[in-house]
Amino acid sequence: MRYPSVLIAPSILSADFSDLKSALGDIQSSGADWVHLDVMDGHFVPNLTFGPKMVADLRPHSSLPFDVHLMITNPEQMAHRFIEAGADYLIFHLEALVHSHRLIQDIRQRGAKPGISIVPSTPISASVELLPYVDQVLVMTVNPGFGGQAMIPSAGDKIRQLSEIRKERGDDFLINVAGGIKAENASSVRGAGGGALVSGGAFFNVAGKKGFVSALS
Ligand code: DX5
Repeated sequence: MRYPSVLIAPSILSADFSDLKSALGDIQSSGADWVHLDVMDGHFVPNLTFGPKMVADLRPHSSLPFDVHLMITNPEQMAHRFIEAGADYLIFHLEALVHSHRLIQDIRQRGAKPGISIVPSTPISASVELLPYVDQVLVMTVNPGFGGQAMIPSAGDKIRQLSEIRKERGDDFLINVAGGIKAENASSVRGAGGGALVSGGAFFNVAGKKGFVSALS
């Protein structure tokens, strides 16, 4: 079966934070489609990365869409600042707040494309009510917080399940997948329905980034 072409979104989480401008250049020259920015607050996940100022400072140095993933508690309090900083897609976790539907509306009204994400232990069923309102669903295939982890084997079932629901309901959100993606497992993730693939460790640890991106696509 020929897989549909997929979007590739390298995550700067695995880049050298002392030289993120070069990391953006590597992403751009690799032929990747998006820049994935992993925002972590040290509460929702056991790691701390960066805030809206980082997004704003990086924004002028890339023409690619910024796919901003908020792994933070109370995302409704900060979402607008990431949009003002230049986020094109803004993804938040269903597990991090009560009123997800309201935040989706707010993100869209502010001009960004809303996305929701679920951690490995959250069932797809938790997202069903929101699927008609989002541009993407980010399926975490590792426990969020760190790059370079191995993909959880059962995660493929969740992607397939989400893909089936999308087909049955005629929704048109993109299925984005993040965590442990590499050349060896990319085709099975695509085959399960992954339409965008995030890669951090594998992308930033490979010399031939252009070849890696083509191998994932
Ligand atoms: C993990 C992040 C993922 C991660 C992907 O918490 O949300 O985006 O950076 O990186 P790899 O590809 O190294 O798992």
